[in-house]
Amino acid sequence: GRVAVLFGGRSAEREVSLMSGTGVLQALRSLGVDAHAFDPAERELAELRHEGFDRCFIALHGRHGEDGTVQGALELLGIPYTGSGVMASSVAMDKTMTKRVWLAEGLPTPRHVLLHADGQARERVREVPDTLGLPLIVKPPHEGSSIGVTKVQGYSQMQEAVQLAARYDPEVLCEEFIDGDELTCAVLGTGAGAVALPVIRIAAPEGAYDYQNKYFTDDVKYHCPAGLPDALEAQVRQLAIAAYRSLGCRGWGRADFMVRARDQQPFLLEMNTSPGMTSHSLVPMAARAAGLSYEQLCLRILAQAAL
Ligand code: DAL
Ligand code: MG
Repeated sequence: GRVAVLFGGRSAEREVSLMSGTGVLQALRSLGVDAHAFDPAERELAELRHEGFDRCFIALHGRHGEDGTVQGALELLGIPYTGSGVMASSVAMDKTMTKRVWLAEGLPTPRHVLLHADGQARERVREVPDTLGLPLIVKPPHEGSSIGVTKVQGYSQMQEAVQLAARYDPEVLCEEFIDGDELTCAVLGTGAGAVALPVIRIAAPEGAYDYQNKYFTDDVKYHCPAGLPDALEAQVRQLAIAAYRSLGCRGWGRADFMVRARDQQPFLLEMNTSPGMTSHSLVPMAARAAGLSYEQLCLRILAQAAL
């Protein structure tokens, strides 16, 4: 049947989604799938029904795409879609809610303080470094691709960091900084059938795994296999699956981690339920290391489309 690849959208990650969706569309077409582009920023989702689409590949990132809203609309339309359902998508889009689930499950995640951006007293903002130490990370809890994120080095930077994050979100998440390597681990499948792909270690030039370096430079080095001790590789994969299942994720996803240098303790940062599929993206890289081409990966994700 006809497959709609949903990409574009209206979030701050629109530009990334355009790259992801273009890749997915090409890959599916190259395999003979009757796939078509569909940008929900320009069209009504109800048109999917009228045009006879019987499945959707969601390659949207961020708000109105990765956060359960589009998933809810597709539920109402009765059109199966790739990736997580409404609840897992919306919980995972909120990094604070995600951490609450993980904390309840006993899964390791950095300590945090949540600030309400409007009318937040300056004194309260200044107290955060006392609680979390310095440096610390300030981020909007509902964004992706490092948008609005600051690594705060001193008290004087706090106010500016909170204001930047508050441009994107009414709440601002402050997180303990874990000094060590950044790791990521993709998960494919659902429930007891969920499997982790090889871990990727990200080596960015001094704290600069930011939006620009994620997509537009070749300054970041990715290692997959990650070169970790076997026990740590296994632990990270296990944690990725536990984190994924605790949120009720489906189809595919990617858990991001920091591993503390001094004791090799991994910490979960977030779950991405519609991870990037660009030429620089991580899930395709991990799939390749597992012997799965970009095209095969797309097909495998599509095959799990569900309601
Ligand atoms: N938020 C971006 C798309 C990612 O996680 O890959
Ligand atoms: Mg993310």
